[in-house]
Amino acid sequence: MAQTSDAPLALEMVKAQGMHMWDASGKQYLDMIAGISVCNVGHCHPAVVKAIQEQAATYMHLIVYGEFVQSPQVQYATFLTQHLPASLNSVYFTNSGSEATEGAMKLAKRHTGRTGVIAFKNSYHGSTQGSLSIIGDEYWRNAYRPLLPDVLHLQHNDMGMLEQITGRTACVIAETVQAEAGVLAPSVEWMRALRARCTETGTLLVLDEIQCGLGRNGTLWAFEQYGIVPDVLLLGKALGGGMPWAHSSPTAISGA
Ligand SMILES: Cc1ncc(COP(=O)(O)O)c(C=O)c1O
Repeated sequence: MAQTSDAPLALEMVKAQGMHMWDASGKQYLDMIAGISVCNVGHCHPAVVKAIQEQAATYMHLIVYGEFVQSPQVQYATFLTQHLPASLNSVYFTNSGSEATEGAMKLAKRHTGRTGVIAFKNSYHGSTQGSLSIIGDEYWRNAYRPLLPDVLHLQHNDMGMLEQITGRTACVIAETVQAEAGVLAPSVEWMRALRARCTETGTLLVLDEIQCGLGRNGTLWAFEQYGIVPDVLLLGKALGGGMPWAHSSPTAISGA
C-alpha cells in the first residue's frame, strides 16, 4: 500500500467497538481520535451495522445519475432536510468531503455565472485538485501547482477584508469552525457580517461542516451557534461513519 504518513503508528488493529479498539495482541485502546471526526456514534454501532448488512443484501449499486428511485437515498435526504432550516431543501450526495467541496464550487460558478472563489487562511477543504486549491495552507497545496485560478484567501475575524467579497465572487467557502487549524471558532459578530456581505453581493455562502457538524459543537449544526443559515452546507465524515458518504445541501436554485 502507498505510504501516506511519514511516521505511522503502525499498530495492527483487528477490532473496534464503541469507544475501544483492540490490536493483534489483544491489547485494548481507548480511541481518542474517532477516525478524525468520523465515528461520532462509536465503532460498529449495532443499528448502523444492521442497516448496512440489510442494505448490502438488498442491493448495493444500481445506476448513477438519478435514473432510478432508490428509496434509502430518498429516505436519508428527507431525514436530513427535516433537520435543516427550510431553505436547505435539496441534497446532493457525493463519496467524500472533497467531492462535496468540488460540488459546491461548481454549483456556485454555474448559478452565479461568476468565477471568483473566496476561502480562508488555515482552512482545510479536501485533497482533490480543486478542493486543495482553496485550502489556506501552503504546506498542503504547494506541490500541485498550477492550482485553480481566481481564488482569494481572507482571514477569519478580519472585518475589513470582507470588502473583498464583491459582485464577481461566486462563493465564499468557510469552515464554520476551523478544525485542522486547531479548532478555531470565529466570532459571532464576524460570522454575521460575513453572512450579510454575501447576501449584499449575491455571493453564495458555503459552510463546510464536514468535520465540525453533526453535533460536534453542541448543536446539530455548528452554524446554529451563530444564528445564521448558509446557502450551501457541506457534510461528510460522520455523515457516513466510515461509509464513503458526503453531501452538499444547497438551497434549491433553479437552473443550478
Ligand atoms: C473541514 C473539512 N473539509 C473537507 C474535508 C475533506 O473530506 P474527505 O477527506 O472526506 O475528502 C475534511 C477532511 O478532513 C475536512 O476536515
